[in-house]
Amino acid sequence: MTEELFIPQTQDKSARYAALTKQLARMAKREANVTAVMANAAAMLRQACGFFWVGFYLRDSEEELVLGPFQGPVACTRIGRGKGVCGAAWQRGASIVVPDVDKFPGHIACSSLSRSEIVVPVYRNGEFFAVLDIDSDQPAAFDEADRLGLEAFVKELR
Ligand code: SME
Repeated sequence: MTEELFIPQTQDKSARYAALTKQLARMAKREANVTAVMANAAAMLRQACGFFWVGFYLRDSEEELVLGPFQGPVACTRIGRGKGVCGAAWQRGASIVVPDVDKFPGHIACSSLSRSEIVVPVYRNGEFFAVLDIDSDQPAAFDEADRLGLEAFVKELR
């Protein structure tokens, strides 16, 4: 089936995320394979929001995340629990907004072009499953509207 993305022409981030979340929910209903849905989720966010890098790191063991579906430049493949922004979000069990990656202790730089970042944990069947990681080449690109919008977005991967 052809998948087409409807991108709302609005500067209102909350409205844009709400529209994308609806489309992800429809897609997830029709497609049971979560890898396929995550791959399109990453593409949707990159296409609609123009982020520098969008992707998932999946829980590979109790200790490590491994790179999953993503859109953007080549990235590091493994991140330890508690390491970098992704590993910290996993350890804390909470989203992390980083306005300036150079000021986050232990930030893992996959690209020197990345200036700010948001990481949101993803749960499936009530268990930690992955993180959604988004990098921007602009400083302070993410705020509460992104956090709330993306937390609602990843709930559709349940
Ligand atoms: N910056 C991340 C690493 C992944 S890349 O940004 C794609 C981190 O510190 O966990």
